[in-house]
Amino acid sequence: MISDKVKEILNEQINKEFYSAYLYLAMSAYFDDKGLYGFANWTKVQAKEEVDHGMIIFDYMNDRDCAVHLKQIDVPDTDFSSPIQVFEKILKHERYVTSSIESIANLSMDECDLATRNFINWYLKEQVEEEKNASDIIAKLKLFGDEKVSLYLIDKDLAKREYKSHEYN
Ligand code: FEO
Repeated sequence: MISDKVKEILNEQINKEFYSAYLYLAMSAYFDDKGLYGFANWTKVQAKEEVDHGMIIFDYMNDRDCAVHLKQIDVPDTDFSSPIQVFEKILKHERYVTSSIESIANLSMDECDLATRNFINWYLKEQVEEEKNASDIIAKLKLFGDEKVSLYLIDKDLAKREYKSHEYN
């Protein structure tokens, strides 16, 4: 049985994951408009992964007979000015999501909800990867991004990212 507090924080996390999808889609639209199609691809693939993150929690709540209450999704940030500024926003956002996931882990322990505590481990691991992905791209952009040829090559590299559906296991 999931407590009301854990239900609420899981409902909030579904909203945060779908907001993340919106945010990455807004970034993808920005990059597409600038002709940076590889960056646009990378952020669009990430948006799809964020939908998966939301859906995994949605399915988990239903599996545990726990009511899902979908909340309004905020309009995403669209104040973008350069690739590095966007990736700095991504890193900041992913750190925020990591702290949300840690709050779920802590609350589920406080509520003696070991199933949710175990479930959320997948997200803790996923957040390590999400922060690392953003940090790695920031590092590349800092090293090479000022040169147009380098930016072109980074864009080509990011064009290779392919969507693979994320499933809880
Ligand atoms: Fe679902 Fe990027 O955190």
